[in-house]
Amino acid sequence: MSIATQSTDSGLILALSKGRIFEDTLPLLEAAGIVVTENPETSRKLILATNDPGVRVLIVRASDVPTYVQYGAADFGVAGKDVLLEHGGEGLYQPVDLNIACCRMSVAVNAGFDYENAVRQGARLRVATKFTHTAREHFASKGVHVDLIKLYGSMELAPLVGLSDAIVDVVSTGNTLRANNLVEVEKIMEISSRLVVNQAALKLKRARLQPIIEAFEKASTLQP
Ligand code: ATP
Ligand code: PRP
Ligand code: MG
Repeated sequence: MSIATQSTDSGLILALSKGRIFEDTLPLLEAAGIVVTENPETSRKLILATNDPGVRVLIVRASDVPTYVQYGAADFGVAGKDVLLEHGGEGLYQPVDLNIACCRMSVAVNAGFDYENAVRQGARLRVATKFTHTAREHFASKGVHVDLIKLYGSMELAPLVGLSDAIVDVVSTGNTLRANNLVEVEKIMEISSRLVVNQAALKLKRARLQPIIEAFEKASTLQP
């Protein structure tokens, strides 16, 4: 590990994304006796302090959490299964399904589009998604030919303006699909967020990490 990617001298570093993952991780941290003392929604700081001088929190994009942890710039983090499947999970130990930020990965199309028929006829589909790896695997396993269009957000817009026939995106309440006159035609998998730990940190900092991992595990089984 290079000096640039080593965090051994500075206690534990946790990578989180703002929004639902940060909010849903706070109770798990509290179960481990850790309270984040700064609010990422009001502060522009990207390294947040906690009540424990030995634990700091990095605020990164959701899809960057596995990268920070893989390279050891953070010792541990919380990331969605969707994000982990795209990243590949290299260098990451994934000890706990935290049962937070739960949703599903689905295929959706314009309300008027006969997806089943298009699939039956062997049509080549244009699919817009942020999750190209998952989408490629899903359609390959069904033997459906697709042209994937990589997007970084607002996937629901793509079928509305003719950019794609279908999207692969996460769905929770279904409100976003309904608001855009789209229908869910296939569920690919259930999604939740996992604790991810740098494999080297787990060995070098096991004494500090293990109690936190155990507290997260215990608290996550108590989630509603
Ligand atoms: P960015 O804002 O950087 O583009 P993002 O949209 O993936 O990233 P979030 O919306 O905070 O970031 O999502 C974080 C994780 O929460 C996702 O990886 C997914 O696992 C889960 N998630 C996404 N949308 C929902 C939702 N509507 N309900 C529940 N969980 C969700
Ligand atoms: C996510 C996702 C969907 C929506 C699904 O967006 O990208 O658009 O949630 O949830 P629903 O089924 O409950 O409507 P998010 O709220 O994260 O906004 P974003 O576009 O900023 O990622
Ligand atoms: Mg989002």
